[in-house]
Amino acid sequence: MSHLDDLLTHLRFPSISTDPAHQADVRACADWLVEKCRSIGLTTELHPTPGHPVVIARSEAKPNRPTVLIYGHYDVQPVDPLELWDSPQFEPEIRNGRIFARGSTDNKGQHYAHLCGVADTLAEKGDLPVNVIFLLEGEEEIGSPHLEPFLRDHADELQCDVIAVSDTGMIGPGVPTLTYGLRGIACLEFKVSGPASDLHSGIYGGGVMNPATAVARLVASLHEDNGRIAIEGFYDTVRPLQEWEREQWARLPDGDLATRSETGVPAVFGEAGYSSLERRWARPTAEVNGIWGGYQGAGSKTVIPREACAKLSFRLVPDQDPQEVLRLARKHLERHCPPGVTLEIHEGHHGQWYVMDPLGPQGMAAQRALEQTFGKPSLLIREGGSIPIIRSFKDVLGTDTLMLGLALPDCQAHAPNENFPVANFEAGIQLNRYLLEELARLLPT
Ligand code: BES
Ligand code: ZN
Repeated sequence: MSHLDDLLTHLRFPSISTDPAHQADVRACADWLVEKCRSIGLTTELHPTPGHPVVIARSEAKPNRPTVLIYGHYDVQPVDPLELWDSPQFEPEIRNGRIFARGSTDNKGQHYAHLCGVADTLAEKGDLPVNVIFLLEGEEEIGSPHLEPFLRDHADELQCDVIAVSDTGMIGPGVPTLTYGLRGIACLEFKVSGPASDLHSGIYGGGVMNPATAVARLVASLHEDNGRIAIEGFYDTVRPLQEWEREQWARLPDGDLATRSETGVPAVFGEAGYSSLERRWARPTAEVNGIWGGYQGAGSKTVIPREACAKLSFRLVPDQDPQEVLRLARKHLERHCPPGVTLEIHEGHHGQWYVMDPLGPQGMAAQRALEQTFGKPSLLIREGGSIPIIRSFKDVLGTDTLMLGLALPDCQAHAPNENFPVANFEAGIQLNRYLLEELARLLPT
């Protein structure tokens, strides 16, 4: 079996962590990974959690050399809307050098490349330049609810000198990119209830507050017209961007153009005074992820819905605290809720932002590995997505994470037609080998 065939097998598991109907598929994917890790010579255990299991696989621990923990996630996002996929989500197809399947980029293709890199080195040399621990989880896409407790319980066994993660992006094909910061996240959901039952909008319209109107007003109250978030205190702890970041990012390919061409929007929009890349990587947001209520069927129905809802998520930057942001958001919604309805707020998962020093010894080792893999100097960026466990690695294990992304801007992660170039998979295998060699030069702690 070639590495590519194996990756295609990995992609056939519909390991959608959020959907209880796929629980057995998530488990089967974990079992398959366990077998794979064992077959390449790693000592591997499947650790059950109250949710989906964690796979831990380690090479023989030898003294006097660094230990590198490689993290990845084998769970994937849901696949809807199905009709917009050009091929089945879990029957990977290679077209124009790209593997199309849910999870191909996010994150199976990326972590599997590291596993293959280790497999190749072990097969060739019978040894690795560093001690390696793989930690592969099945709950990243639902906020890793059980991984931080797992880290705390296994902190001694997971002690390492550095962590490597390929679950971020590259600026463009063949452009080596080191991501040194991610945004945090805080989610909430709210429901506005009015009448005890749906009402005839002719009989009662004008005499009661419409819950859908109330939700729309609440959602609209989150932003000022210029894109700034209107929640009192929201920006109080936001750390300004550093000058060197603004300078470096200004030299990257035009972010407005990239944003427009990657998304298809007719114009970019966001907080005044910031470039597109700054808005997306280093400024906080308030997003509506879903909003519903009332009649959604064909034609018209003259009704006042008895309730309406919205799901919100906030992306957070240094030094915002997710719990504090949820508290401020709750206060804001309660204060802005119009009279005549009741508001119920449910807080969801949250995770911390992360930044590290890309110019320290570990960051420089990562940059050299990226340069060797792609043949040019790497770019330094922050990104807007979140991987909350990376901050927990720092807080619980005291270890920094190198984010060496292999995802292309048009990878369609979380969307229909997610894809990963075979070339990036192969580059990832090479990257693993260079990275472990570079990290071997760092002294163990
Ligand atoms: N790989 C992404 C995170 C990411 C995306 C990093 C883009 C950098 C650039 C990860 O799998 C992901 O999607 N994370 C979720 C986390 C959330 C559910 C807690 C996210 O960012 O929405
Ligand atoms: Zn994801």
